[in-house]
Amino acid sequence: MNENLTPSESNDAVTIARNHLNQDIGLGRGVYVSTYGCQMNVNDTERMYSLLEMANFTIVPTPEEASLIIINACSIREKPVHKVYSEVGTYRKMKDKNPNLKIGVGGCVGQQEKENLIKKQPMIDFVFGTDNIDALPQIVADVFDTNKKIVNAKFEHRAPYHIETLVRNPGVSTFVNITKGCDNFCTFCVVPYTRGREKSRPINHVLTDVRNLILRGAKEVTLLGQNVNSYKSEDGSDFADLLEKVAKETDIQRIRYTTSHPKDFNEKLMHVMADNQIKICEYVHLPFQSGNSRILNLMNRGYTREEYIAKINLMKKYIPNLVLSTDIIVGFPGETEAEFQDTLSMVKEVEFETIFAFMYSPRPFTKAAKMGDQVEEAVKNERLNRLFDVHEEMAFKLVKKYEGQTLNVLVENVNENGKVFGRSTQNKSVHFLGSPSLVGQTVPVKITQAFPNNMRGELVQ
Ligand code: 5AD
Ligand code: SF4
Repeated sequence: MNENLTPSESNDAVTIARNHLNQDIGLGRGVYVSTYGCQMNVNDTERMYSLLEMANFTIVPTPEEASLIIINACSIREKPVHKVYSEVGTYRKMKDKNPNLKIGVGGCVGQQEKENLIKKQPMIDFVFGTDNIDALPQIVADVFDTNKKIVNAKFEHRAPYHIETLVRNPGVSTFVNITKGCDNFCTFCVVPYTRGREKSRPINHVLTDVRNLILRGAKEVTLLGQNVNSYKSEDGSDFADLLEKVAKETDIQRIRYTTSHPKDFNEKLMHVMADNQIKICEYVHLPFQSGNSRILNLMNRGYTREEYIAKINLMKKYIPNLVLSTDIIVGFPGETEAEFQDTLSMVKEVEFETIFAFMYSPRPFTKAAKMGDQVEEAVKNERLNRLFDVHEEMAFKLVKKYEGQTLNVLVENVNENGKVFGRSTQNKSVHFLGSPSLVGQTVPVKITQAFPNNMRGELVQ
């Protein structure tokens, strides 16, 4: 591998797309992408917009102004296909008035449903999968040129994961994909089926990407993947090596990463975080999903409650001011009240400042969807509410410790009234008064009021 390649040179798919594209296809046409789901999808939408801009499409703020509408849909939880059909339904009048309006569906729903979407909803003109984004300009050109329905949702199993980050405006803080797909097959999760096998980008591509984003103004990067700590570069480097290189070999000011898996979170990684504490934020999102070891086993998570807690305790030895957030599922098949109580006690024991909690929802292809003993919706709902109540009470008390503290805040934007927004290294959103010149700077802010996900403060002069 030539280590001096620029990301664009290394990105075969984009280069092919650029060279072969009918550049006129977007002339006089507006594109609107409607995005659902996780940060991965948000980044994919940026990629779609960037590629379509290269084909001379104009990005428009509303579907009414568009000649091309793309729904980048998410299927992680609850009625995703239904949501797509109901959104397409809202475009009926526009399509009746303008038969040249083209509608496409991508993301995990496109991957999962393929041609079924067009069979059930003929207003949809094309469907593409999560591995086919770089082919989008060509797909769109073919749809406009031929008026034929197109489905392109095949995984590119043999292709290496060589992409460059394509974002229109990286801003102060930006996301950089480092892995895609997932091989963990947690029994509740559709991602291994909708995002395919796990692949990592070569370490030098990531470093070049980060350096290029810095030139465009980025001060913070979040390394992104379904399971970042199973990252493996072609040269054998692991996630800890990557994190260390981004910290030591680029001028980026702050590094975050998401999402990590408890079973792959090793001591080497803790060591790198401890050694690079100013650059690597002391905030980690580490989903535990359930506080009960029997349920964790049924979920195929690869750790027990005790092992998760032992890892957290070890992490706190390396990074004493560690701040944690987590994902939790309530009402997994067979979960008893006592087992749910273990989840409640876990939240209290680990003292998570932020939680993202969901009712279990059966997903196609997954093992858990076929398990007997599905928990009733009303029970799931009641457990979710109880979990939020328990957490809220605790979190309000926990974050009071920030009041009076001075946090380093990286300023992301300022509105006309001088209201400044930024985030602390602990990933807290902090609001205070200041001037537009602060954007991109890291400044000390004394916290005057602290809520679990939001804080107010005053700039320390
Ligand atoms: N039901 C409910 N929540 C789920 N998640 C993933 N799959 C499901 C499902 N079938 C949650 C997990 C994961 C987060 C991104 O979404 O908590 O960490
Ligand atoms: Fe889904 Fe588990 Fe992979 Fe996360 S690690 S994406 S929950 S299968």
